[in-house]
Amino acid sequence: MQLRSILLAFTAGVITFGVLPAQAQAPIALTGQVSSAAEAVMEGVVVSAKREGSTVTVSVVSDDKGKFSFPASKLEPGRYTLSIRAIGYELEGPKTADVAAGAATSADVKLRPTRNLPKQLNNAEWLASFPGTDNQKKALLNCISCHNLDRIVNSAYSADEFMQVFDRMTGYYPGSTPQHPQRLIGDARRNLGQGPGVKAMAEYLASINLSKDESWNYPLKTLPRPTGRATRVVVTEYDLPRKQIQPHDVVVDSDGIIWFSHFGEQFLGKMDPKTGKVSEYPIPVIKAGFPIGTLDLKTDQAGNLWVGMMYQSGVARFDKKTETFKVWSIPKEWQTDAAQSGHLDPSATHVDGKVWVKNSDRSQILRLDPETGQWENLGSFSDPANGKRLGVYGIPADRDNNLYLLDFSSSNVGRIDAKTGQFTIYRGAIRESRPRRGAVDEQNRLWFAEYGGNAIGMLDPKVGKVQEWVLPTAWA
Ligand code: HEC
Repeated sequence: MQLRSILLAFTAGVITFGVLPAQAQAPIALTGQVSSAAEAVMEGVVVSAKREGSTVTVSVVSDDKGKFSFPASKLEPGRYTLSIRAIGYELEGPKTADVAAGAATSADVKLRPTRNLPKQLNNAEWLASFPGTDNQKKALLNCISCHNLDRIVNSAYSADEFMQVFDRMTGYYPGSTPQHPQRLIGDARRNLGQGPGVKAMAEYLASINLSKDESWNYPLKTLPRPTGRATRVVVTEYDLPRKQIQPHDVVVDSDGIIWFSHFGEQFLGKMDPKTGKVSEYPIPVIKAGFPIGTLDLKTDQAGNLWVGMMYQSGVARFDKKTETFKVWSIPKEWQTDAAQSGHLDPSATHVDGKVWVKNSDRSQILRLDPETGQWENLGSFSDPANGKRLGVYGIPADRDNNLYLLDFSSSNVGRIDAKTGQFTIYRGAIRESRPRRGAVDEQNRLWFAEYGGNAIGMLDPKVGKVQEWVLPTAWA
């Protein structure tokens, strides 16, 4: 069977997606039909199976006849716990299934309406349900990187109390979760719920939470379930050994081994997708007392892994053969309490010997020569149209080691020519699209996410224009 795999990460787990070809004839381990009292045949229900004692969960989706099938290559014999995901429903039964070797087990799955719909809503569904304008809702995109919106909608804070909540949130390290918070040190603060619109934002939040009523005074909207081609997918989820692990970036190396950065802990993670076995390599602490955790994870041409060490204010290179780190600190005279080196790019270091690094404190762009240990500070870059500093989130290098700066505070994409230092700005048509991260493809084109535009952007430097594709689902 052909499987195309994409990877992404979320708290305490790693997921792979495979797309099933339409005429899959592969042997089946477990199959059945999904139904409920309200819908005789249910399409688009995610059915998941986890073997007793295993750390791996496999999910498939029911088709237009309500039928789901797990390929035998994905489920070895054993007793499996079943679970489902279909907004508005919960699993009535069966809760387990026994998979035998060489035969397809049959399990028709019955669903019943959930008694707790709010608990099932995801962030996109909450945002769609809220009354108010898109601009009012957009401010909430700053509140979902450490926890879901359910903390906000279930709170009973007034507008004044929200001002204090904002103040508390600005003091957390970005890789915090309510289960594993870390405070920033000294005078470092982040920009959440600040600036001119902050009072209006507090009032808006107090109008959509439970400060005035015991339940929400707006109808809860849900997204439709997947249909057609979107149901032909196998999702494999791997549990990580501890709940507080926050895998941030994920890289698959040439041997198919998965590497991930820990956002809230000082380790580099490795996982073998064949067995689910996880290894963790401790990264040296170089700025004692400051938050720990890393963000960007990228490979250089030789296959070494590089991680951005965030508030530890440096970068680390991991040699897979010797399993050792070499670490470079940002020069002390450039460091403040807010120094933060989350982003880097060593992918084209073989071209000119330089690794690009960003210090989020004042959005400074740095360049490291790992051979000599010399750092260069190119400073901050501004939009020539209005003098506003680019709030950079993501610095992908192209194949010649020129650098793109993705401006998370506006809709700009900047480009620094590595040889001449010349700076050019490009922008798409969507206002406040908030470009972030990004990757350069084989044709030297830059692809990136537009966080505020709900879109995907592409810049072909030969054409010199940003093209944008808006996603069909709002708030995706
Ligand atoms: C950098 C991480 C981070 C961001 C971003 C963040 N929060 Fe939080 N939030 C936390 C943590 C950690 C907790 C749990 C500890 C606490 O309550 O202080 C929390 C808890 C909360 C709670 C529940 C607290 C209570 O007292 O009931 C609310 C409400 C909340 N956050 C609102 C917000 C809002 C509004 C925003 C956006 C302006 C936001 N958060 C952004 C980290 C964050």
